[in-house]
Amino acid sequence: MQDLFAVLTPGDEEWLLAKALDPERMPAHVAVIMDGNGRWARKRNLPRVAGHKAGIEPVRTVVETCARLGIEYLTLYAFSVENWKRPRTEVETLWRLLRSYLKVEIPRLVRNNIRLNVIGRVDALPEAAREDLEAAMHLTAANTGLTVNLAMNYGGRAELVDAMNRVLDAARRQGRLDELHLDEETIHANLYTAGQPDPDLLIRTSGEMRISNFLLWQIAYAELYVTDTLWPDFKRADLLRAVVEYQRRDRRFGGLTAARKPKSELALAEPLGVSSR
Ligand code: IPE
Ligand code: IPE
Ligand code: MG
Repeated sequence: MQDLFAVLTPGDEEWLLAKALDPERMPAHVAVIMDGNGRWARKRNLPRVAGHKAGIEPVRTVVETCARLGIEYLTLYAFSVENWKRPRTEVETLWRLLRSYLKVEIPRLVRNNIRLNVIGRVDALPEAAREDLEAAMHLTAANTGLTVNLAMNYGGRAELVDAMNRVLDAARRQGRLDELHLDEETIHANLYTAGQPDPDLLIRTSGEMRISNFLLWQIAYAELYVTDTLWPDFKRADLLRAVVEYQRRDRRFGGLTAARKPKSELALAEPLGVSSR
């Protein structure tokens, strides 16, 4: 949190939002469905790929802000297994943008102790993109700060199928197929996100009220936050607003009381002094 205040201006909107946050109750894992690039471009009479290009800056902002907030895991939905249905030129532009993003960002990730991890069916990505992603993972593997999971050729159902097949293959190899018994721990341990906490907060931009095959297993008890803001317009204040809203929620996990108490009733009652969207 101190890292965040170092770059904020006292009294402005972001500062007020940051002030409203309880550092003791930060989400451990934030997941984002970065949607609305195409609509952002259409509004400006630009080709869809211009929206994807404009969507890079918010990625930088969100990664940096999560690191400054001390959040441990950030999962970004960048390309779904269903996104191959798009025109080839759009898909190819996405790989090009990914590669140029990595080229610029890897040194910054290394410097800032951020680890990059790719989740999804990476084997099916174009070779050049796959190699760059693998290099990025390798170069940041020893970092101990924020972990960024980049979901690439990712599908929640595909992930579950892959997890089940891994369990089956292992049992077959060990000659223990007959005794195989599945439980939640075994499934968790074979997901792409094995060992990570489930997302506490799932943000979707551009207003669609759907999950689009993202982290189906892991979001069982995630708090959902949908904003009409299109991804290329998503700013640091938007992320802070989502986390403030997250901290106002009463997370019961099926029980009758909140898992943890809010910072103070006063903080809840106070207006944030920011425009609501
Ligand atoms: C999200 O923006 C980026 C990707 C899915 C790669 P979209 O491209 O889905 O933008 P809209 O939803 O058409 O506005
Ligand atoms: C979800 O967005 C996938 C990503 C953000 C990468 P889509 O734009 O593909 O989802 P739908 O088609 O609106 O459900
Ligand atoms: Mg979309």
